[in-house]
Order: sequence, then structure tokens, then C-alpha cells
Amino acid sequence: DRAELAEARRALGIGGGSSPAKAALALVPTMGALHEGHRSLMRLAREKAEHVAVSVFVNPLQFGPNEDFSRYPRTFDADLEVCAAEGVSMVFAPAAEDMYLPDRQVGVSAGKMGTAVEGAFRPGHLDGVLTVVIKLFNLVQPDVAVFGQKDAQQLAMIRRMVTDLDLPISVVGAPTVREADGLALSSRNRYLSPEDREAAPALSRALSAGAAQRTPEEIRRAAHAVLAAEPAVAVDYLVLVDPSTFAEVGEDHRGEAVLAVAAKVGSTRLIDNVTVTL
Ligand code: PAJ
Repeated sequence: DRAELAEARRALGIGGGSSPAKAALALVPTMGALHEGHRSLMRLAREKAEHVAVSVFVNPLQFGPNEDFSRYPRTFDADLEVCAAEGVSMVFAPAAEDMYLPDRQVGVSAGKMGTAVEGAFRPGHLDGVLTVVIKLFNLVQPDVAVFGQKDAQQLAMIRRMVTDLDLPISVVGAPTVREADGLALSSRNRYLSPEDREAAPALSRALSAGAAQRTPEEIRRAAHAVLAAEPAVAVDYLVLVDPSTFAEVGEDHRGEAVLAVAAKVGSTRLIDNVTVTL
């Protein structure tokens, strides 16, 4: 089994498989345009390891043909200052040509779970995320990697990849950082017009209204009601799902569930979620 394999490696003096008191390197993968949410991940990473690495790479593979790849905010100089202020030991910011050969063939498939919820609205998105994340893991070789709960399905899929492919990395999830009015911080918030910005907190209000209920049916109904009252918000999905599979939970579900929403506010697509215990 795995423990014997690790022991056999140690016996050969190769190491690995052991867990030192504190990890050496923690990686925080990002697409830049760094904000307080990213900074909270860097601080958590610093608690988990001696050194923190941050990657800044706007990954073309995870954007659909009609998505915002070309207009995604790029603020590299400011990002470097943020990393320096957070005591980050290294910033890895590869060029797209360095990451992907023109004739690349092989990638990670997110499987059935990659076609659920967010994957149903963004075909191929989670495959693209997992492919870049495993490449970043292989290049940077961290012991720990930190991801935000803000992208709940992404975090769940990365945990699955680590399990299904036996990656020697421990994944740490970090809580969502929000504005005072509840809006989850996002690099895309800067696209919001003043009117959009006023409507956007409806997402987190809907999640709070749902989370205050007791049964799956009441949770879904209360959250929907808040969103229906905000005409500037066009909902892609509002789901209550199992945190590890992202399949909708039934009325008899017990334990944790994720109430997740995606919606367009003006031309900007926002996502948010909250974990509830049933
Ligand atoms: P990006 O959107 O830049 O997010 C980088 C990390 O920051 C992710 O783990 C995300 O969940 C986390 N994050 C974003 N907003 C947050 C908030 N308000 N509070 C806490 N954490 C937050 O997610 C990606 O980049 C990419 O898909 C990536 C994983 C880098 C792969 O390309």
C-alpha cells in the first residue's frame, strides 16, 4: 500500500512520504489583479509553510471563446508590490508561450463533476483549471497549495484531482473575503458600473437568506426570492449541492451542503456560495 511504498523509498534514502513539522513551500495560484481575498490566501499560506510562492498567470485554457480572457484585468506591477508587502518569497509569472506548446496534446479531464453546475455554463472551464493547476504544482513543487472557498467547485475539483491522481500536495481551503455590504471580492468586480455595483450584493443577500432556513426546499425558495426581487441580476444558476460532488442534494440530505449562485450583473458574471449545515 501507500505507506509501504513511502517506507520503501525512505529505506533507499530517497525521502518523501514523510511530513516534517512545517512544510517548506506553500503555493497560492492566482490570475493576478490581486485583491484582499488573494492577500488572505497568502497570509494563510505563510501560516502553513516556511515560504510562500504566488503564481500570476491568466490561463487561456480556462476561458471560453466568448468569455473575458482578452479584457481580464492585468495589473502586474501592482501585483508584485502586493506580493512583496505580504512577504512572498517568489512570484512565478510565466508567459503563455512558456506554459503551452502550440502542439500540446495532453490535459487533465475534470470528469463528470466538471460538467456539473459551473461546468454546465462554462464547458471545458474546469478541465482548463485542473490542467494549469497540475502544471503549476509540477513546476513550483509546493508541499501545500491554498485556494479560496469563493470558487467552491474549483476547490472541490482540485481536492478530487489530488485524491484521484495521488498528487503529493496538501490542499488548504480559505474563507471568502467580502466587502462590508457582503459582495465577495473578485478581480471582476472592477467591471461593475455604479448601478451594477449597487445590485451585486443581492447575490450574498440571497445566500444569507437561504442559509437562515432549515430545509433544502426552504433554503432554495428563500434564496430565489431575494434574487427575483432584483431585476438587474440575471441568474445562471442557484443550487444547493453536496460539497464534494456538486450534485444537488435531496430533502433528506444531512450534513454540509453548498448553496452556490452564478449571475450576470450587467455584463459582468459573478459567482458566490455559502456552506450550510443540514
Ligand atoms: P483567481 O480568480 O485569481 O483566484 C485565485 C485564488 O483566490 C483562488 O483560489 C480563489 O478562490 C481565491 N479568491 C478569489 N476571490 C476570493 C475572495 N473574495 N476570498 C477568498 N479567496 C478568493 O481562481 C483562479 O484565479 C484560477 O482559476 C486559478 C486557480 C489561478 C487557475 O488558473
